[in-house]
Amino acid sequence: MKILIIHGPNLNMLGKREPDIYGSTTLDDINKQIEKEAKSLKLKVQYFQSNSEGEIVTKIQNSLGSIDGIVINPAAYTHTSVAIRDAILSTNVPTVEVHISNIYKREKFRQHSYISAVAVGVISGFGTYSYNLGLRAIESHLKSKK
Ligand code: DQA
Repeated sequence: MKILIIHGPNLNMLGKREPDIYGSTTLDDINKQIEKEAKSLKLKVQYFQSNSEGEIVTKIQNSLGSIDGIVINPAAYTHTSVAIRDAILSTNVPTVEVHISNIYKREKFRQHSYISAVAVGVISGFGTYSYNLGLRAIESHLKSKK
């Protein structure tokens, strides 16, 4: 099974960015952590980070036919992007939404996600371990559909 991991805007700043909320782990460290989990689950994983909404939309569109599942942290676009939501709908590639922080414990504007209603499910609030859980969740979902 091939899984695409999408990291949204400002996640390239992890490690430096608001460490009280997001911790000190860098994006490279997170990708290494995901790779370990993927190996144990026998998954092939591709990684993509972008600060641009259009690039994320194009990446999702291009996943059609070559990717079995997506794990996405849409970051700030979670709360604004109808375009990313529509891209997920248009390709219909099963997608799990993940967040490092618990968005439901934070500011009101973070408590609404445009993505959740088109995702298989959402994992939020387990620090960087949310990505491991996201990978396990998409694997279990894809297996159950086979
Ligand atoms: C985030 C939560 C978002 O509200 C925020 O804009 C992010 C990161 C998280 O992983 O907790 O950039 O998606």
